[in-house]
Amino acid sequence: MKKMKLLVASMLAACSTWAVAQQPIVIKFSHVVANDTPKGLAAEYFKKKAEDMTKGRVKVEVYANSTLYKDKEEMEALQLGAVQMLAPSLAKFGPLGVKEFEMFDLPYIFDNYDQLHKITEGPIGKSILAKLEPKGIRGLSYWDNGFKSFSANTPIKLPTDLKGKKMRIQSSKVLEAQMRALGALPQVLPFSEVYQALQTGVVDGTENPISNLYTQKMYEVQKHLALTEHGYLGYAVIVNKKFWDGLPPDVREQLEKAMLESTAFANRIAKHQNDQDLEKVKKSGKTAVYTPTAAERDAFKKALMPVHKEMAPRIGPELLQAVYADLAAPTKGNKK
Ligand code: LMR
Repeated sequence: MKKMKLLVASMLAACSTWAVAQQPIVIKFSHVVANDTPKGLAAEYFKKKAEDMTKGRVKVEVYANSTLYKDKEEMEALQLGAVQMLAPSLAKFGPLGVKEFEMFDLPYIFDNYDQLHKITEGPIGKSILAKLEPKGIRGLSYWDNGFKSFSANTPIKLPTDLKGKKMRIQSSKVLEAQMRALGALPQVLPFSEVYQALQTGVVDGTENPISNLYTQKMYEVQKHLALTEHGYLGYAVIVNKKFWDGLPPDVREQLEKAMLESTAFANRIAKHQNDQDLEKVKKSGKTAVYTPTAAERDAFKKALMPVHKEMAPRIGPELLQAVYADLAAPTKGNKK
């Protein structure tokens, strides 16, 4: 009888070991935007690729639209291991102490996606991601969104039109300096609170690529949109380093391949998504869409370029010089 009990117990133990062995590795991927945005679509693409390429050994759970965590919370959750993967905007790494990312927020630093890719796909992009390692974070890739435009409830043609306006920004000191250079009053708010803040007048205006303006319905509570394209907004896909390093090597290899394919996908669709959403905003008739003249664009540039010099000590003058040098080298073409 005793022998029988031992046999049953060892069989049960074997079963449960087998069950544990069969449990997929779960990657919780949290983000703050809608599913039908460049980041939302790329996250879903990564989920499919990762699950297919690891033959089900990995399960990716995507939590969109701040359903799991908001901006600031998601960074903390990643460091604590409560989620494994995020793709925060490059403007949200300053509070973590990695100020170099704020280089991407400088007004007019990139003329087009090709210029941007010189940095994100080159050694400078890599070196900036590496700065996350001491924070317990591994930077895997850069995903594109697009170029930001200003919106408000009054017409925006010249920098003076934003004077005294309360403008929502992401948590970047460069964006704060940018708004101050326009005489506006910057207010940091989590992305999930922007629609309501615009609706209730907590802030007067904001800046975002059109894909965010459209999918968060911000255009319903902003009467004017000026296609200033004065700065860039994109993402760093990041993982909890301990989790990533602890993965079985063959699984990690497949996930790296899935990430490469997802990055190509994200960067292929970003411009199209933004163009398509601009047409939808125009069609809605809720926002007057204005394209600044060359002279108006120049006026914005003149007002905003001093931000580069002002913020160089924060970003790192050497990094900035290296970026300028890379950007000055001839480009392949103009995709913007
Ligand atoms: C924002 O807060 O405006 C953006 O970072 C949202 C996003 O992730 O695109």
